[in-house]
Amino acid sequence: MTTGTVALIIIGAIVAQVAVAMLLGLYRRRSQYRGLGEHVSAEETTSTPQTAMPSVVEPAVSTLAWEGFREFTVQRRVMEDGNSTICSFYLVPVDGKPLPNFKPGQFLTFKLSIDDPLTHQPKAVVRCYSLSDTPRPDYYRITVKRVPAPDGHPDIPPGLSSNFFHDHVQEGSRLLVKAPSGHFHLMEDEPLPIVLIGGGIGITPMLSTLNFILEREINRELWLYYGVRNGDEVIMKEHLQLLAKTHDNFHLHFCYSDPHESEVEGVDYQHSDRVGIPLLRATLKLMRYQFYVCGPKQMMESLVPGLENWGVDSGDIYYESFGPATLIKHEKPVKKTTSAQSITVTFSKSRKSISWDTAVGSLLELAEVNGIEVESGCRAGSCGCCQTAIKSGEVDYNQEADADVEPEHCLLCISTPRGDLILEA
Ligand SMILES: Cc1cc2nc3c(=O)[nH]c(=O)nc-3n(C[C@H](O)[C@H](O)[C@H](O)COP(=O)(O)OP(=O)(O)OC[C@H]3O[C@@H](n4cnc5c(N)ncnc54)[C@H](O)[C@@H]3O)c2cc1C
Ligand code: FES
Repeated sequence: MTTGTVALIIIGAIVAQVAVAMLLGLYRRRSQYRGLGEHVSAEETTSTPQTAMPSVVEPAVSTLAWEGFREFTVQRRVMEDGNSTICSFYLVPVDGKPLPNFKPGQFLTFKLSIDDPLTHQPKAVVRCYSLSDTPRPDYYRITVKRVPAPDGHPDIPPGLSSNFFHDHVQEGSRLLVKAPSGHFHLMEDEPLPIVLIGGGIGITPMLSTLNFILEREINRELWLYYGVRNGDEVIMKEHLQLLAKTHDNFHLHFCYSDPHESEVEGVDYQHSDRVGIPLLRATLKLMRYQFYVCGPKQMMESLVPGLENWGVDSGDIYYESFGPATLIKHEKPVKKTTSAQSITVTFSKSRKSISWDTAVGSLLELAEVNGIEVESGCRAGSCGCCQTAIKSGEVDYNQEADADVEPEHCLLCISTPRGDLILEA
């Protein structure tokens, strides 16, 4: 073997080693990038371990949750905003027993007895309110915004339940409350970084999630985009600022769409803009997140599809709308009936058979316009009040139900008949 051949072999070996090292480096970086889907990388998180706050007991949901309505007393009420339109209520159970745990993002359902503004007779009103704090064994907190009559309609009575809370629910008042429920809640199976987006009163489930993660020092990066018109509408600002100051993994963004002249960008708030995709793109790193969105109709209608168009997997987007179904959640194909096919819905207890077509709307609306007494609350598939047994036939849902539906039952407020249907109502 000549000296030249030996030199060539040595150079070849060195080149091969360098190439293997480069390939290995490349592979490791790819794995780290892909790993964003499974784990948050060390650089993206604080190094705090995942521990529970010792002061917060975590009771098992199954043993402590209750059936039907339980009586609570209002222990404390706190006005939260500069406009005096948002009030928190701290609720303790009358029986004094510990409260079940819940998942941050879930809500309580209330049955109130309120004087009907037209008949002046008391009537049962059912409404849902998100839990606005982390689970605690001794009290629940909800935060309620007063809903006025629609603009330009002083003849229409203002929101029944929210105004009742503000005007009549005082410290010491008793309320009937269903156990926490709802499918819009923090997903804990994948420890991805989290982006919380709350518009107006849609901040309530975000507060619960935020307090839960930071109090328990859960090792996840967290962004909060809080959209309001200006500082008068913000609630719990000092609390949020303190959390941001004391937790490196929490990134707080106040977004004011119409700030007061006295409010300074970068001091009182971070962005003079609505929360939108351009803002998210400019402020978030390019990686995988779980997005949680709750806000007014316009915000939901632009943000949810906007996130998908940006390339976010729809499985990483969780959202909740507070009003009656304004947005089709997780669209399902609605079976169209042919013009020749007429559908008859029979309400067996009421002994009424009525023909249904798409113009009528939901089964709840069909029942109501025909004078059939059915219970309803949220009209959005959340509270479960309109659950009714199906004696024969099938229904289609126009959005995913938030309430748990028993087998062979349906939620009238978000369903339509697939064909002839007999309901026990
Ligand atoms: C899962 C979930 C969680 C929620 N969490 C919260 C929360 O944390 N905080 C919160 O504040 N809210 C929350 N909500 C909303 C809440 O449940 C109520 O919908 C809200 O308080 C309004 O109820 P209301 O009884 O005051 O108004 P409603 O009586 O339902 O009236 C609503 C609006 O309709 C108008 N109106 C009344 N009658 C008519 C009519 N004939 N024609 C036209 N308009 C009319 C009223 O003036 C009012 O503007 C949540 C809702 C859901 C579904
Ligand atoms: S009215 Fe609440 S689920 Fe139908």
